[in-house]
Amino acid sequence: MGTGKARIGILTSGGDCPGLNAVIRGAVKSAVRLEADIVGFRRGFEGLVDPVTYVALDTTNTSGIINRGGTILGSTNQGRFVARSGVDDRLELDPQLLSDVQRTLDQLGIMGLICIGGDGSLSVAQQFHERGIPVVGVPKTIDNDLSATAFSFGFDSAVACATDAMDRLHTTAESHERIMVLEVMGRHTGWIALQAGIAGAASVILIPEIPWTWEHVCQKILERDNAGKRFSLIVVAEGAELPGGGLVTNAAGSGGGQVRLGGIGHVVARQLHERLKRETRVVVLGHLQRGGPPTNFDRALATQFGAHAVRMVLQRQFGQMVAYDPPDVKSVPILDAVHQISRVSPNSSAVVAARTLGVSFGEFPPGQSPLLRSLVLEVSQRRVEPVAAHEPSHADAEAAT
Ligand code: F6P
Repeated sequence: MGTGKARIGILTSGGDCPGLNAVIRGAVKSAVRLEADIVGFRRGFEGLVDPVTYVALDTTNTSGIINRGGTILGSTNQGRFVARSGVDDRLELDPQLLSDVQRTLDQLGIMGLICIGGDGSLSVAQQFHERGIPVVGVPKTIDNDLSATAFSFGFDSAVACATDAMDRLHTTAESHERIMVLEVMGRHTGWIALQAGIAGAASVILIPEIPWTWEHVCQKILERDNAGKRFSLIVVAEGAELPGGGLVTNAAGSGGGQVRLGGIGHVVARQLHERLKRETRVVVLGHLQRGGPPTNFDRALATQFGAHAVRMVLQRQFGQMVAYDPPDVKSVPILDAVHQISRVSPNSSAVVAARTLGVSFGEFPPGQSPLLRSLVLEVSQRRVEPVAAHEPSHADAEAAT
């Protein structure tokens, strides 16, 4: 390129989500107007090191992408850049890898790198910053589990997808008087389940942040039966712990120290079927929540994030991350976003409001009738066979029964 202008790098890292392309477009349009060049590294951080792969971005090759899902730059989850194990254990990046990144940026004359990522990718960005590599962060994740920003883009789109699924399940559940279980993503937090559960009129919401028991879930369903509503919708977060403890993990395995969650919906459906002797079905929404076009909210937020990130690079606000502090977008230290994940508070107004409406989080509500309680306990003590081998594995299948 060699234009003598400031040059900015940008990359998308980790699991994709709706709105990544809107950030790229917002950054490119802003950079052009602020007379900076911008290059996009392919496949996340991988594009920064051998083989270095990048593309010069302009308003032509980023035109028409504001509403396109995925990322035109591609992304890598984990790969050679892993700075975190599990929820919060720091892993040190290979110093040679960091030197290689610095060399790439020097050779291309890049004054600052915009890293669009979730907690894992921003932990990598934080180590770049500690090493003196000029970086700014943009928070993305459908899980909404990053601290220091009210929302990450992608979350609203995932909730819209899950709510649409709830609406569709509602009508068929009612027709057939069935219990429908919807498993949603969210990793170790219940933000998606909570929002979609409220918006989709769930009877029961099960999330990692609120301990629950089988009998409390059964109680809610029986209460509905007694009220003449012989169908129920349950939304369960993939990271919700089973009553006896333990997460349900996908036997397909895990990568880079992160456990791959998935399958609790099947466990919940089976348990409720056995305990209540009622027809139960399960839907695991999976990656549908990550695909497709971003919602209007996510497009607008992502576009602002892109524009703001470019200004931050030009102002050399390195080690900072774009954050949404309604109604404004501001800058915060990347460290503030990644030092601990953001969880649903069991006493937050959304949870309190849902409880007030009668939504069950799997806890016994105060003031229940003794008759109903004894019925619930009788049902909960029925023997349930262990989960069959073909179903998802989990650490404590026995403890759950
Ligand atoms: O972090 C986003 C997310 O979609 C989580 O909700 C989910 O647990 C995980 O990524 C799935 O990752 P993968 O696409 O690698 O299966």
